[in-house]
Amino acid sequence: MTINLVIVSGTVFGAAEDVAHHAAQLCAEAGLNVTYQPRISYAELVALEPDALLFITSTTGMGELPENLQPLVSALREKAPQWHGLLGGVIGLGDACYGDDFCAGGEMIRELYAELGVVEVQDMLRLDASETVTPERDAEPWLIEFVASLTV
Ligand SMILES: Cc1cc2nc3c(=O)[nH]c(=O)nc-3n(C[C@H](O)[C@H](O)[C@H](O)COP(=O)(O)O)c2cc1C
Repeated sequence: MTINLVIVSGTVFGAAEDVAHHAAQLCAEAGLNVTYQPRISYAELVALEPDALLFITSTTGMGELPENLQPLVSALREKAPQWHGLLGGVIGLGDACYGDDFCAGGEMIRELYAELGVVEVQDMLRLDASETVTPERDAEPWLIEFVASLTV
C-alpha cells in the first residue's frame, strides 16, 4: 500500500515553505504519495484522508504559530477529526536566541498531535536559523529516517 503523506507548512518569511517543497520532493522520490498545498484548508486536508502528516512550521512573535497556520490548527482542535493512530512528524524552524520559545510553534503542533492521537514516529527536528542558512539540506537526514519509519 502506498502511504498517503500530507505536508502542511506554517511560515512568515518563506523558509518553512522552502523546506516543505524540498521535503515533498524527497518523500515523493522515496515512493510516498505526497500532497503539499501551501495554504491547505481544514476541509481539503480531511478530504485527502492522510495516512501520515508532516507539519513544517516556523515560530513568530514570542513563541507563536505563523498566522497562515492558525486557522487550520484551530479547526483541527475544534473539529477533532478521527485520526487516532495516524503517523506524524514535525519540523520546527526557529532561532535559539528566543530561549524557552525556541521552536515553540513546532511544540504546539506536537501538543495538537497528542490531542488528536497522532503518533510522532520520531523526535521533532529543530532547525536553528542562527546556526544554518541551508535548512532544506539540513532536514535531509531527518527526512530519510522519517520515510523509513513510515514504510517499515
Ligand atoms: C519577529 C520574529 C519573531 C520570532 N520569534 C521566534 C520565537 O519565538 N521562537 C523561535 O524559535 N524563533 C523565532 N523567530 C525566528 C524564526 O522562526 C526563524 O527565523 C525561522 O527560520 C523563520 O522561518 P519562516 O521564514 O518560515 O517564517 C522569530 C523571527 C522573527 C522575525
